[in-house]
Amino acid sequence: MMDRVLAYIDEGRARFVEELKEWVRIPAISSDPSHKADLEKNADWLLAKFRDLGADRAEKWETDGGRGHPAVFASYMHAPGKPTLLVYGHHDVQPIEPLAEWKSPPFEPAVREGRLWGRGVVDDKGQVHIHLKALESFIRTGGKLPINIKLIVEGEEEIGSANLDSLMRDRQKDLEADYVCVSDTAMFGRGIPSLCVGLRGLVYLEVHLDGPKQDLHSGSYGGGVANPINALARMIAKLHDEEGRVTVPGFYDDVLPLTSTERHEMAELPFDEKEWLAQTGAPAAVGEKGFTTLERIWARPTLDCNGISGGHEGEGSKTIVPARAFAKISCRLVPNQSPEDIQRKLADHLVRIAPPGVRVRVVPMHGGQPYLAPTDHPVFEVAKRAFSKAFGKPTVFIREGGSIPFVRTIADVTGKPCLLMGFGQPDENAHAPNEWLDLENYHLGIKSAAYLYDELARL
Ligand code: BES
Ligand code: MN
Ligand code: MN
Repeated sequence: MMDRVLAYIDEGRARFVEELKEWVRIPAISSDPSHKADLEKNADWLLAKFRDLGADRAEKWETDGGRGHPAVFASYMHAPGKPTLLVYGHHDVQPIEPLAEWKSPPFEPAVREGRLWGRGVVDDKGQVHIHLKALESFIRTGGKLPINIKLIVEGEEEIGSANLDSLMRDRQKDLEADYVCVSDTAMFGRGIPSLCVGLRGLVYLEVHLDGPKQDLHSGSYGGGVANPINALARMIAKLHDEEGRVTVPGFYDDVLPLTSTERHEMAELPFDEKEWLAQTGAPAAVGEKGFTTLERIWARPTLDCNGISGGHEGEGSKTIVPARAFAKISCRLVPNQSPEDIQRKLADHLVRIAPPGVRVRVVPMHGGQPYLAPTDHPVFEVAKRAFSKAFGKPTVFIREGGSIPFVRTIADVTGKPCLLMGFGQPDENAHAPNEWLDLENYHLGIKSAAYLYDELARL
């Protein structure tokens, strides 16, 4: 059976890429309300594919009474007595700005250098497509899947999955499964099959500072009232100490420290810090004192200012005391920090450290829980074996610094382990101009998924 499936995947190699390109052409930018119809179209495209493959259910699930973007659900429950795998992915994509930096247009996918270029090719359409093609390869060769498979493909992941919790509560029965699998992460490096066992969580907020009721002449008034930009800059500067630690009181209270085994395992990974730094283009690796770069980005919480603005941002000079300033601030969280707790601590702290003469307003945006997998569960060894078969190399356990709010929610709701089997690479420019997907990883990803389904049937 597997021989025929693998041969089908080899024969379909070029056709699969052509089909993925079709989907990438739909500009499903979830953060932009003017693309609402494209998210519907995007979901319908996927729904048609699931129906073509004989899904016993293929449904578009509205969110927030139709005001949110739809999720797609499909199920193939044709293997009585066998386990059920729930696959999660997202069909929405990030915005494309700065457009001028793209070498080929983001929604005109193109193949160059063994890579597919375009918005969403790796995050996350290509990785959802991997499962679609693995499904197809079983169904078109033997007519049957070795296990039962359900898929939930969300349309609001890139904007914080605000409607996901309520969707999962309403659909808890439909989403029941023995194992959960998410393909929305990266591999450790080129051609190194990886199973991700930890993700960071997130809190996101805006802080607004209001001073005078309108901009003032800085000659007539400057020095006599507080300048909101100066005040905001002082506040932001106070959020870290000299050793790169976050100064918000209680910030580290619930942080689960790395065990010496975990630190040892991370240190054993073939991490090339020079190459990593070169990819970033930054002049030096900098972070919390006492931790390595991998520890900092995988297992330590952070606080970042994502954007800041106020005052005169146009050409030339203008002498004013600006009326207001604001910043967007986010924190990556690690187990066992909670987004609600950190959100509150950060908001209280910002209000507390505001200098006199400004009004502070904190606007919460969204959050997501961190995740740590129960790696002593046997399914992790099974998954490792499946990827190693496809790639012909040993599979490593890694963590990732990014966030996928679904993962902890589904793990809590179902109590089942979640396999983060990602086939991206950290340098594939997700969320940035010139996003690309390594087509070899994509191809071997389809084989990995096929091996996983096959192995799970025997667990
Ligand atoms: N696929 C990413 C998550 C990810 C990023 C995993 C990097 C591994 C490495 C996902 O689409 C994403 O971008 N998530 C957001 C979540 C946020 C909007 C709640 C993130 O991490 O910023
Ligand atoms: Mn993603
Ligand atoms: Mn993303």
